Formats: sequence, C-alpha cells, structure tokens
Amino acid sequence: AQAATPLREERKKPTNQDDEYADLDWDNLGFGLTPADYMYVMKCSKDGEFTKGELSPFGNIQLSPSAGVLNYGQGVYEGTKAYRKDNGKLLLFRPDQNAIRMQIGAERMLMPSPSVDQFVDAVKQIASANKRWVPPPGKGSLYIRPLLMGSGPVLGLAPAPEYTFIVYASPVGNYFKEGIAALNLFVEEEYVRAAPGGAGGVKSITNYAPVLKALSRAKSRGFSDILYLDAVKKKYLEEASSCNVFVVKGRTISTPATNGTILEGITRKSVMEIASDQGYKVVEKAVHVDEVIDADEVFCTGTAVGVAPVGTITYKDKRVEYETGDESVCQKLRSVLVGIKTGTIEDTKGWVSCI
Ligand code: COI
Repeated sequence: AQAATPLREERKKPTNQDDEYADLDWDNLGFGLTPADYMYVMKCSKDGEFTKGELSPFGNIQLSPSAGVLNYGQGVYEGTKAYRKDNGKLLLFRPDQNAIRMQIGAERMLMPSPSVDQFVDAVKQIASANKRWVPPPGKGSLYIRPLLMGSGPVLGLAPAPEYTFIVYASPVGNYFKEGIAALNLFVEEEYVRAAPGGAGGVKSITNYAPVLKALSRAKSRGFSDILYLDAVKKKYLEEASSCNVFVVKGRTISTPATNGTILEGITRKSVMEIASDQGYKVVEKAVHVDEVIDADEVFCTGTAVGVAPVGTITYKDKRVEYETGDESVCQKLRSVLVGIKTGTIEDTKGWVSCI
C-alpha cells in the first residue's frame, strides 16, 4: 500500500465542515490513512449485547495495556467502500455481507458481535457523516473499516470481559503502488499464511501481522504481493496477503475453495457470480501451483484491491507472464463489478444500497 497522506492537523489549508468536498488531492489518492472526520463507537454491555453506538470525532481511543486485543489478538475487522454517484448520492456495496462475515469471525474468536442491522446502520452513519471525504465519481472511494475488539483487561489467556466495535473511514484510491497496472506476484515457499484448523478463513487481525515479514522481503525484491501455498503439501494455491486469487484457462475460471484457510472474500463471491452470469465455468477447488503456471490469466480480488490483473508470477526462480489488458477476462469482470458498485450499471442483484 502507498504512503499515508498527512493527518488532518498537518494539512496545509483548513477545510470547512460544510464544504461538499474535503481539501484533498483527489487525483492522487493511494491507500494511505487520511482519517475522515467521524468514527463510530459502540460498546458491548456486561450481558453481551451491543448498546446504542455514537459518532464522535476521529481520534485516539483509550485502552488498558492489558486489553485482550493488545495482548492476545482478540479482534476481527472488515473493509467496505462507499462510492459517490454523479447525482451526489452515496452507494454502499453489500455491507450486510461484511456484517455476517464479522459475526462468523467473532464466533471463531469467542467474541460477541453486532447484529447485521447494527453493523449496517453504523456503516451508513459513517458514510453519511463523512460524505465530504467520499472522492468525486471516478476518483476512488471512502474505505470504511469496521473493527471489533476485546477491549477489556485480561492477564491470563481468556476472552476479554468487554468488547468495542469501532468504525472509521479514509478516502482511498488504488491499493497497490502499481495503480491499475498488472501485479507481479511471488510464490512464497518458506512461510505459510494459514493452516487447517486455524483462523485463516475469518478476518481475524491475527492473520495479518504474520505475513509482513515475507511480504516485506518480496516487496524489497520488487514484487507487489505474495501468493501463499497450502501449509500441508505446499503445492496448492491459497491467497495473496491482501486478496483472493483466480486462475483463468480458456472459459474456465478457478479459485481456491474456501476450506477454512482461505478468506471468504465478498469481492471473490461477487466476481464468481458475475463470471457465471457471463457464461464462464466457475470452479472452486484445490488449485495446484502447476495450473497457475499453465494459466492464461491470473487475477486478484478484494475490497481494498478491487479486481487486479496479475502480469507475472515467479515460482522457484521461474517467471511466468500472463495475458492482461482491455480484452482480458479480468478486465471484463472488473468493469461489470465497478459499474455495479458505482451505479453506472444497473444493480439487478440487490447488492447496492443508496444513501
Ligand atoms: C480489504 O480488502 O478490505 C482488506 O481488509 C485487506 C487489507 C489488507 C487492506
């Protein structure tokens, strides 16, 4: 991801809360944190219920040094985006699916979670309250980050006695510094991302820091991201550090089956549905690394990443090149998904909510 834009206090021109747009260089958004005005905080009561949440100015939060999330990583997060339409309305893409995924992840990490209605309401409030941070149409989106954590203090390994749900937001452009150019991926053979029985299938915060070492090594060698292999045989494709992966051969599109070690991406399942609608054969299965080498195209999907073409994959010192460009399957699927999310293609699936 790209370097962060300076925090609000450091920006040159003060901006007026009544302005339609915040004072940002909308043409050069990366994926750095530019905190939008408001965050949403909702606490869990002693009986395990989340009570009414509130908007407050974005800022630091207070946590005990012995908070469960800080000591034992009891936390899950989500990512979703709001887009601005030409008519000024905001569009959200399947936030209910993020809510459900957070509930599943919370259950795995032994945490209570907000109801779907509470979650979606919080996301809507954050998008509306931070409207001036939603980029102009075509320039990017407001990335919304819901976060659920064990905020209460613990010493021994145990679930936290208190939980906090926070939602904050930041305007973003492309995730990778490559922009929309094709990615160069490296197949990681030393480190694994997740193992059977672990928490790789949910969006636990504990899945992310452990990838940093391999990711930083790959980046220092000029790669955009890593492709992980399965932990047992080290032969089957899993996912990248920040996104799911698809392999195209002719009219067949394959993606690693979600068996507990692969994140069930919302972009992943949306792209699978769009591809089926367009007559592709979509297969979820164990994808052998040799199939990747033999593929016509490879692409990645994720909320932050979108639908991103892969130009090369390096495996065991062999660099393989893939088809990319306007006529690629990736580009066709990407343009339909982007069209639905931004309101330029009619949403016949009930995926988009307008606020
Ligand atoms: C997302 O795509 O929303 C994610 O959470 C991935 C993260 C590494 C930015």
